[in-house]
Amino acid sequence: MTRMPSDSGTVVVLGTGGTIAGTAASSASHTGYQAGALTAADLLAAVPALQGQAIETESVAQLDSCDMDHATWALLAQRIAAHLARPEVRGVVITHGTDTLEETAYFLHRTVAAPKPVVLTAAMRPATALSADGPQNLFDAIALAREAGAVGVLVGFGGRVFGAADLRKVHGYRVEAFDAGDAGALAQFEDGRLRRFRGWPEEGGDAAALLALAPADWPRVEIVLSHAGATGALLDAAVAQGARGIVIAGTGNGTVHASLLAAARRAVAQGVPVWRSSRCLLGGVVVGADDTLPSAGPLTPMQARVALMLHLAGGAPPA
Ligand code: SIN
Repeated sequence: MTRMPSDSGTVVVLGTGGTIAGTAASSASHTGYQAGALTAADLLAAVPALQGQAIETESVAQLDSCDMDHATWALLAQRIAAHLARPEVRGVVITHGTDTLEETAYFLHRTVAAPKPVVLTAAMRPATALSADGPQNLFDAIALAREAGAVGVLVGFGGRVFGAADLRKVHGYRVEAFDAGDAGALAQFEDGRLRRFRGWPEEGGDAAALLALAPADWPRVEIVLSHAGATGALLDAAVAQGARGIVIAGTGNGTVHASLLAAARRAVAQGVPVWRSSRCLLGGVVVGADDTLPSAGPLTPMQARVALMLHLAGGAPPA
C-alpha cells in the first residue's frame, strides 16, 4: 500500500507480526491475545498522525516472534536491502515481536549494510489494549527513519533509541521492556524531537557471507546454560547431533561449571568452537587474564549465538 507522495522521501514499513500486531478479545487483556494478527497496513491505518506521509507497507511475516526462524531472517534481510537500494526510500521500519527483537536486530546489524536508517519497533501491549504502546512506537520509528544523517540498524521503543548490538529485553511484562546495558540509549524522543546522546552506530553488514547460504545450511549453533548442578550432558548431546558451535550462557562474568567446562574442552578438541557469554542481563563478559574459552564480550547469549553462526559462515568475530 502506498500513501501520498512526499518530498521527504518514502519510508517502507515491513511487518513481521508480534504483539504490536496482536489482537485480544478484551481491551483489558495484555497477555491473552493473538500475536501477528494484523498487517503492517492495519497498523499504519491506526495512526491518523501518519496520514499524508509517503509510506509503503509490506507484510514479510505474521509471526509471534518466539517462532522467528532463519528463513524469515533471510527474507527480511533481502527485502530490506532491496528497499534501501531504491533512491526514493529514506529508510525502512520493521514491526516485530519483542521476544526475539534483540536477536533479529543483531542479525540485521551484522548482515545488512544500512547507509540509511533501518528501524525496528515493537510493542508490549496488543493493538486492542486500552493504552496500546504500538501506535506511538510506530510513529516514533517512522520519524527516526526520516532523521537526517541517521544510519545503521536502530531500535525505537518506548520513546528511546537503541543500537542493535546493545539491545536486550529486560522485562517480560512492563511497557519499558528494553535496555541497552552499560552502552545506554543512543537518543530519546521528546515531544516529537530527537535528543541525541551519542553517535549513530556503524552502517553494519560486515558478516553478510551467511546470506549466500540457504537458511537450512546455516551453521547450527546451540546455547547451553551453566547452573548449579550442571553436567556436560546437553553440550555433549548437541555436538553429537551436529552442532557446529556452542555458546555457553555462563554464570556471572561468564564463568562455567567445571563439569560443563570439561564437555566444552571435549567439543573444542573435536573442532567445535565454544564461546562463553553471561546469563546476567547486564554487564556481559569482561575479559580477564585467565580466560579458558573465547568470550562473547557484551553480547547476550542469544546475540552470541548469531555472532558465532555468522563467524562459522566466514564472517569476522564481533569486535
Ligand atoms: C512476540 O514477540 O511476537 C510476542 C510478544 C511481544 O511482541 O511482546
